[in-house]
Parts: sequence; C-alpha cells; structure tokens
Amino acid sequence: MLKAVRGTRDLLPPETGLWNFVEAKVREVMRAYNFQEIRTPIFESTELFARGVGEDTDIVSKEMYTWEDRGRAESDKRQSLTLRPENTAGVVRAYIEHKLWDRGLNKLYYIGPQFRRERPQKGRYRQFYQIGAEVIGPSTAGSESPARDAEILEMLATLLDRLGIKNWNLQLNSVGCPADRARFNAALKEALAPVAASMCEDCQRRAVTNPLRVFDCKVSEDQPIIEKLPRISQFLDEGCRKHFEEVQAILTSVGVPFTLNDRLVRGLDYYTRTAFEFTHGALGAQNAILGGGRYDGLSEALGGPAAPGIGFAIGEDRLVMTLAESSPVVAQKPDIYIAPLGAGMNREAARLARALRNENLVIELGDESFRLTKSFDAATKLGARYVTFVGEDEIRTGMFKLKNQETGEQVSVPRGDILKTVRRTKPPNET
Ligand code: HAM
Repeated sequence: MLKAVRGTRDLLPPETGLWNFVEAKVREVMRAYNFQEIRTPIFESTELFARGVGEDTDIVSKEMYTWEDRGRAESDKRQSLTLRPENTAGVVRAYIEHKLWDRGLNKLYYIGPQFRRERPQKGRYRQFYQIGAEVIGPSTAGSESPARDAEILEMLATLLDRLGIKNWNLQLNSVGCPADRARFNAALKEALAPVAASMCEDCQRRAVTNPLRVFDCKVSEDQPIIEKLPRISQFLDEGCRKHFEEVQAILTSVGVPFTLNDRLVRGLDYYTRTAFEFTHGALGAQNAILGGGRYDGLSEALGGPAAPGIGFAIGEDRLVMTLAESSPVVAQKPDIYIAPLGAGMNREAARLARALRNENLVIELGDESFRLTKSFDAATKLGARYVTFVGEDEIRTGMFKLKNQETGEQVSVPRGDILKTVRRTKPPNET
C-alpha cells in the first residue's frame, strides 16, 4: 500500500473544519490590525535560507529539503533549490524584490506549509503549517519602534483569546543587537571552555561553533551547567535595554501578561532585540505554539536596504491540537438530503437542489435509481437534518414532504416554504 511519507500526514474532515475555523478567525483578527495577505513560493533558492536563517542553525545545517534543479535539457544551468523551512526569509526577499519600502510600513501575513527534516513526533512534522505575520519597512515608517513589538504581541494574545485558547504563557526576552551578541558570545565561549568536555556531544560542538545554541540543549545532565552560564540580559547596551523596557511597559499598559526568560534564544540567526515564544501546557515536549521576534538586520543580510522588522509564526498543527482538546469538532452536515424518486427525477431534483444551494443551504443529492430505504440510509450516514423526495406527485402538486431526521416528524410544505422550514442558525465552528 502507498502511504503518506514519514513526517507528513493527511488532514481529513471533520478536522479540516477546525483548520478552516482557525484560519477564518486569523483573517478576521489580521484585518482588525490592518495586516494583508502575502503568498510567496514554497521553494526558493537555497542561498536565501543559508544567508537569511543562518548556516550554523539546525534548520539550515540538517533539516532542509534541498535539491539540484535544472532546466529541461541536461546541459541547462543547475541551481540549488530548497523547500521553505520557514517564511520570514521569503517575505523579506519579496520586500526587497518588489521594493515594498515605497509603501512605508508593510504589515503582511501568510498561511501555508513549511518543510523541515526533523524527527517526527507528536506536534512535530516534516510538513507542517504556519500562520505568520511580518511588520517591515524603513525605520522612518516606525518599523523599529517598540510599539510594533507590543502591537504584535497584543494581537497574538487577542487571537489566542478569541480562539478560546486558555493558559498560554508568553516567554519574553531581548537578544540584543549584533554588538551585544558578539560580547555575549565571547563571554559564553570563555565560560564554556572549562566545562564543555563534561557536556553532551551537541553542546561540545556548539561551544565552539555557535555557543548561543547551548541554550537549546534539552539534556537534563547539562542543565545545571547551563543555569550558571552568563545571560544575554547582562550584555544589552543602553539602546536595546530601553527598547525592551518600552515593549514591556506597553504590554503592561494593555494588560498582556508575560514571563521574562533570558534563556530564550530562538533557533534562527536573524533575531535582534525582542524574541518571544508562546507556550501551552497541553502540548507536551513540543510546547511552543508560536515563536518570533525582531530581525532588524535581515534585509541588509539579503542585499536589501535597512528595513527593521518583527514577526512571528504560529505552528498551526499545534494550535489546532490545543483547540481540538477543548472544543470537539462539529462535522459539516447536509441541511437536506434530496431523494429523487423514479426515472426522470434526477433532473427535477437537480433543479430543486440548485435553488436551495443558492440560498446557502447544504444539500446532498441522491440518485433516481436508489430505492427509498437506500436513500434514507445514505441520509442517515451523512447526518442530514431533513430528507425530502422529488417524485411525480411532488412535481404535479408542488407540495414537498420534509422529514425531520432528528424528531422523525414529517410535514408537507409548498416548494417555496422549504427554505423557511429548514433554516436555522449554524453553530459558529460548524464547517
Ligand atoms: P520557528 O520558531 O522556527 O520560527 O517556528 C515557529 C513555530 O512553528 C514553532 O513555534 C512551532 O509551533 C511551529 N513549528 C516549527 N517546526 C515545526 C514542526 N517540525 N512541526 C510542527 N510545528 C513546527 C519561525 O519559523 C520564524 N520564521 C518565526 C518568525 C516570523 N520570526 C519572525 N517572523
């Protein structure tokens, strides 16, 4: 049997209804904050991620799906391409390519699949979905202001609240500017030199290549050592400290709770200043429901003009997972199952179905070859609320029987009253 590839999965109804519900809410909230959608390609040049996300990160060094592509002829020039492991680099590439700075501050969001070759487990897939947003523009447009950071975080709190997700925890840190990080890195290297040998293999490597990544370590024996290491908070310069304080002051003013966590360094190299994650207890080991931060130097690293920015990406798989635990999915069900009765009735039933669908009812259509019991079985299996029949009698008299499948009650109504009889408000998360 052919199966979905390891780490990928099919999203099936009724669960897809929950995905649609989440995405509809996201679009609603994004609109209120004046974000607009951007769609970038799912594959890009490998160089984009190497330069954007960083050669030393786990994502770029181990997790990308990369291949050599060429034109149709064997002789065509080859190019290294990669399935996007994240979408921030692609958005900033598009910002540069289309000179979006002409529009001032850009507030963009995206919803789509990302690809990372990670070890699959609960909440971790090789194809997963992100809902992300980026605010980027020249600093004269206000892109560097701590007000942007606070607005993004407040929007996320609003979104999670509106989705009915409770008990989230906002972990907040500032990773400073490149100069702060250089001093921090030097201090870390020095602190790690005498102890690295007693740490896990990954940390021994990190201590030399990218000491910041030691904070990603999950090995429990290493934690006491990591606890004693210097923290980025001790290395922030005046500007970064003030910026961070202002972000916190605005969050406090709008009533968004947060926890300061100066171990939070994030797994991508482009971050500067504000960095954050929202975690949720129900998720287990993969407890980050979303992550993000500021990337003031990314545009320049990709060959563009200075364009400070900040953004986030929600792991949609994880978001849906937390939702599914609190609110059971409501499957889509037909309002009416129309059973054509006898030869020639498919065409009459199709006319009735068309009219009712134009009124936004959910209609399922049987077939004139079905016996009555088969029609009822089909209607029951689908969970149809009503069954109606289209036969010679109905066409002649214009009266239609409507059987309520829940109560068993049957009424006879003129064709024009079907809609009125069946209409009702649908539950908000029904698909
Ligand atoms: P990230 O922390 O790598 O950040 O990913 C964001 C979120 O995507 C994670 O918190 C997690 O919920 C979800 N995620 C990551 N990997 C997987 C996976 N293998 N399976 C399921 N979910 C996963 C970024 O990607 C940045 N681009 C976020 C950002 C936007 N920063 C600034 N702007």
